[in-house]
Amino acid sequence: MTLAAHPIGVFDSGIGGLSVLQALQAALPHEHFVYLADNAHAPYGEKSDLYVRQRTHAIAEHLLQRHQIKALVVACNTATAAAIHELRTQYPHLPLIGVEPALKPAIALSRTHRIGVIGTRGTLGSDKFHRLLSSLEGQAEFIVQPCNGLALAIEESTHISASASSEKITALLRGYTGQMGAFGHGPGQIDTLVLGCTHYVFAQNELQTLLGTDVQLVSTGEPVARQTRRLLEAAAQLRSGPAPIAASARMQLLTNGELSGLQAAAQRWLHLPHAACHKADPHV
Ligand code: DGL
Repeated sequence: MTLAAHPIGVFDSGIGGLSVLQALQAALPHEHFVYLADNAHAPYGEKSDLYVRQRTHAIAEHLLQRHQIKALVVACNTATAAAIHELRTQYPHLPLIGVEPALKPAIALSRTHRIGVIGTRGTLGSDKFHRLLSSLEGQAEFIVQPCNGLALAIEESTHISASASSEKITALLRGYTGQMGAFGHGPGQIDTLVLGCTHYVFAQNELQTLLGTDVQLVSTGEPVARQTRRLLEAAAQLRSGPAPIAASARMQLLTNGELSGLQAAAQRWLHLPHAACHKADPHV
């Protein structure tokens, strides 16, 4: 089997990276994917840098050794901020794609030049994020708000009823966005909100209801999918074929936590059958 036929590895602390996988499967219709949800160690956003780095290395090793992945997408802002630099040093020949809050695209979209950024404490407190902010100084005003507990509430939404989970997510969002100032498209208002955590894409409906549909939400799935395609093309590892393959035949989703949560999320957001989800090796 040539390297092009190998799967692409994707991981996150839980279901958040499925928002990136959605874009990947659409942009790369012949590729096979192995997605690992590290639910047993989630959430990452409120853990130490060292802990997140250790988890990232353990998962990268597992996906390389057990699944022979040809590329790795770190579908988690927190893990990217903590560990992408080390991963690049450790695996210099592996195409590696990380995610970071999409501040530059937000500058291009904002008319009021007041841009909100929400993410985990780990991401927004990281040196990597602060370097990104400094590099854009003077181009817009960024209002940065960590949202402790939000990724976990979104994760838990797979286990409770849609209305109960939506209420909990809305209450958290109301508290956090309320501290950021006025949203809207008037002068001095925040007209663009960057979703700096892959989980938050699954709270888009609640956010638009709360902030109004005028506020633009910016996420990273599509640019990450385009970058993945570019890197595979450059490495001559893009898998091609006469016709696209059905998503259910090219997706393998793994979790070291509760299988039912991943199954519910995969069905809801990727329309995948439960059979696409499996328990991960307990040692990962
Ligand atoms: N989805 C992840 C991120 O983008 C991690 C959330 C968490 O585990 O706290 O940051």
